[in-house]
Amino acid sequence: MPDRKTADLPGHWLFARLGKRVLRPGGLGLTHRMLADAQLAGADVVELAPGMGRTAKEILECSPATYTGVEADENAAGVVRSVVGAKGRVVTGGASETGLDADSADVVIGEAMLTMQTNAHKADIMREAFRVLRPGGRYAIHEMVLQPHDVPEAVKDEVRTALARSIKVNARPLTAEEWSELLTEAGFTVEKISYAPMALLEPHRLIADEGLFGALRFVFNVLRDSDARARVLNMRATFRRHRKNMGAIEVIASKPA
Ligand SMILES: C[S@@+](CC[C@H](N)C(=O)[O-])C[C@H]1O[C@@H](n2cnc3c(N)ncnc32)[C@H](O)[C@@H]1O
Repeated sequence: MPDRKTADLPGHWLFARLGKRVLRPGGLGLTHRMLADAQLAGADVVELAPGMGRTAKEILECSPATYTGVEADENAAGVVRSVVGAKGRVVTGGASETGLDADSADVVIGEAMLTMQTNAHKADIMREAFRVLRPGGRYAIHEMVLQPHDVPEAVKDEVRTALARSIKVNARPLTAEEWSELLTEAGFTVEKISYAPMALLEPHRLIADEGLFGALRFVFNVLRDSDARARVLNMRATFRRHRKNMGAIEVIASKPA
């Protein structure tokens, strides 16, 4: 992970440093739903931005034909390589230029990696997923969503600014309609949308995502580091303050056959 001061570290790297493995807004629950909807058995699967490899592990348990991870961060790519071992490969690179062959995958999966991009770059990544997929293939995403669908622009800006300040990542979540529109513009047909609360730092979700032991280890690591504690409490307060307007979304979109 990049060696940066705790105060400036992007939220996901701070969590990773504190031993948190699940770094996505809807938690493992929404991941499981998404993986079931994506139909992975026997499929050639590409995962964009696998992070700490937590979903990679779950994907491999679904018996895909092949697994390929594309991760921008060299250290994270190394962690994912050690998780997948001989059962897959991990390339280091950007999700908008994967270097993978066109029409070579049945499923492309990306979690908690589009929200942090500009809208133009979100579209670039979606177009790359479209290129890599075979006709009839499925693109599954799990991201942050702004709600309700008619949330005023001023509230959107307020949530985005609060998130960026707190997680130190330029988070630009979209409404469900905006996510669907971007996917449609990239050529996809939206097949399914599902939601979960954004509860990343709530005790019940920590235990569901990390297990009791993992949750306790995380809490212990947070308690013994005052800079990390300040950051984590600030993120939780931000998530709580804006919880009416923030959630997690799963979208399954298909490339027309
Ligand atoms: C918030 S973490 C999510 C990790 C994992 N998908 C999960 O849900 O637990 C974001 C990850 O996206 C990676 N990432 C961000 N932008 C990327 C890009 N353009 N191409 C590939 N990986 C990217 C980061 O290196 C990091 O591992």
